[in-house]
Amino acid sequence: MTRKHILHMLTPLRHMSPFDVNMALDAGFDAVIPYTGVSLGEVTGLVQDAIFSRPPDAGADTGIFIAGKDALLALDMLEAARKAMVPPFRISVFADPAGSFTTAAAMVAKVEKAMDTHFQRSLRGTRMAIFGATGVVGFCAAVIAAREGAEVTLVGHDGLRRVKDIADAVRSRFEVEVAAADGSTEAGKRAQLDAAEVILSAAKAGVQVISQAQLQAAGGLLIAADVNAVPPAGVEGLPVNADAEPLKEAGGVGIGPLAIGNVKYKVESGLFKRMIESTKAVTFDFQDAFSLAREKAR
Ligand SMILES: NC(=O)c1ccc[n+]([C@@H]2O[C@H](COP(=O)([O-])OP(=O)(O)OC[C@H]3O[C@@H](n4cnc5c(N)ncnc54)[C@H](OP(=O)(O)O)[C@@H]3O)[C@@H](O)[C@H]2O)c1
Repeated sequence: MTRKHILHMLTPLRHMSPFDVNMALDAGFDAVIPYTGVSLGEVTGLVQDAIFSRPPDAGADTGIFIAGKDALLALDMLEAARKAMVPPFRISVFADPAGSFTTAAAMVAKVEKAMDTHFQRSLRGTRMAIFGATGVVGFCAAVIAAREGAEVTLVGHDGLRRVKDIADAVRSRFEVEVAAADGSTEAGKRAQLDAAEVILSAAKAGVQVISQAQLQAAGGLLIAADVNAVPPAGVEGLPVNADAEPLKEAGGVGIGPLAIGNVKYKVESGLFKRMIESTKAVTFDFQDAFSLAREKAR
């Protein structure tokens, strides 16, 4: 008997993301069921309800997807789901809150590829400034890049305090160092742009965070990458489909949101397909997303 591939999609928010629903069905799941307003404490019960309804050998045909808009909560929910398994009853789990794990993975992988192709360098020791760092995509990009050895600075658009708190959380949770800086003033922002070799713009959709004039002031810029696909661009003058093309006015190359989105799409779809095709239960977080993004960014 061929069993149906079922995906239970959990979010602490009021709505499950239509983007993720479409992605899961297009990847091949037979049914996707959203559960909204799910608290951390409810994960164990939902997972155990799902695992015991099918025989252990059907575990790999049942999946849990964890959404939301908070990377740390999503990782806590993933861990709770993992701990809820009762061997030999196990099911697959994939966390990607607000698409952030796959988007950040794609962004960092594209930057890594461009560093290698254009500058014959790796991320290790690269000075990287992240704008929009209090968002879930910026946060996750910071963790991935720092784990690869980049010297990451989180630039706060409303002062130092929130990015400093996030840097502390990154240190205690992931045991990597990231710096925090105040980018709320013109001078503060320019200082960070001037010091950076790589700029990641991960700010809210439709918000320009770096102007042409500010970009030109970035003395040693190698790469500027922007994930915002909604006009105006996060980095003024950076075309949405730029794929490591030279930046006209500033030095270095630019990577736009559609080039990043192309890899992100393949990674999210690819991880859903791996859940479906695997004969054993699998668990995917941002590191798995980054491993696949590296393959897709080649
Ligand atoms: N290309 C792709 O494939 C792809 C896929 C997914 C997402 N995205 C894009 O990735 C970006 C980040 O997503 P997200 O979910 O992390 O977004 P988000 O939560 O809406 O916001 C990201 C960041 O933008 C900051 N921000 C808000 N208003 C600002 C302003 N006026 N000036 C400077 N910064 C401001 C936020 O600060 P606060 O904390 O103060 O709000 C936060 O740090 C979005 O543009 C999203 O559309 C792209």
